[in-house]
Amino acid sequence: MNAIKIIIWYFKRPSLYPQFFREIKRKLNFFKSSEKNSCSDFVIKHYEKNVLNDFDLFFELTGKHFQNSFIKSHSKIFAKAEQKIKNIDIIMAGYDESSSIGISYNSGGSNIGLIFEICEYFKFIKCLETGVAYGWSSFSILSSLKNRKNSRLVSVDMPYPGKENDKHVGLVIPNSLRSHWKLLRFSDREGVPKAIKLLKSLDFCHYDSDKTYVGRLWSYNLIWENLSMNGILYSDDIGDNNAFYDFCNSKDINPLIGSVPSNNNIKYFGIVKKNNS
Ligand SMILES: C[S@@+](CC[C@H](N)C(=O)[O-])C[C@H]1O[C@@H](n2cnc3c(N)ncnc32)[C@H](O)[C@@H]1O
Repeated sequence: MNAIKIIIWYFKRPSLYPQFFREIKRKLNFFKSSEKNSCSDFVIKHYEKNVLNDFDLFFELTGKHFQNSFIKSHSKIFAKAEQKIKNIDIIMAGYDESSSIGISYNSGGSNIGLIFEICEYFKFIKCLETGVAYGWSSFSILSSLKNRKNSRLVSVDMPYPGKENDKHVGLVIPNSLRSHWKLLRFSDREGVPKAIKLLKSLDFCHYDSDKTYVGRLWSYNLIWENLSMNGILYSDDIGDNNAFYDFCNSKDINPLIGSVPSNNNIKYFGIVKKNNS
């Protein structure tokens, strides 16, 4: 029954047919090979040992002190966004029911305060984001981009198969920021190349979509190739599997590791900057 529901869901969305066939292939391969979809103990230990708090991480990246002003300075917009989300029955990432404040801007989502300050410091112009859901991270990136002429965020998102939440994707992004934003409703495999074609090169990428080992490596490599010198790749949930660790090793780069709280646990994110060394 569930499988039929998913097939119908894909059938109604022609732009996602290629992803549907990839999923079938993946399911068939799954029986033959062991997918690398858990994180090795040594990788988690490596993250535990190297994780920095937001203040140290920002200092390592920029040599400046982290202000963490985003949520406070945008409190009115957050209050409006909360109201919009409260009436929705399909819950997406970024809404933490167990949190005492109802909506936690970190849990399930991304470290949007830090993302905002990074965009502000580096004054990015061309940004890519994979994985939008309600749009918390898009909102933080756009809040910085709005200060710069010709700046642009292209976001790639396909809803979780089976969920009828297409119309809620990006819901919290205020209308005033949307002139800097383009949403591509594709899976990463189709959407990321389209986004790169639109942007031509990337100053910043926030990766928060396909969490499989294979999907991540494919996107990380393509994003890296198209990242400008001094550009930054920021990836969420790097403790899901070894993909981010293996990617950094393959490029001989040393990432900065941070963490966000998530349902009585923590989730790791990684930041890498492209430079000559
Ligand atoms: C963790 S949520 C993104 C949260 C968001 N960055 C935020 O700050 O609130 C992941 C999003 O990526 C989408 N997604 C999952 N797999 C994807 C894929 N293969 N291609 C594109 N989007 C995908 C999900 O439907 C969901 O909307």
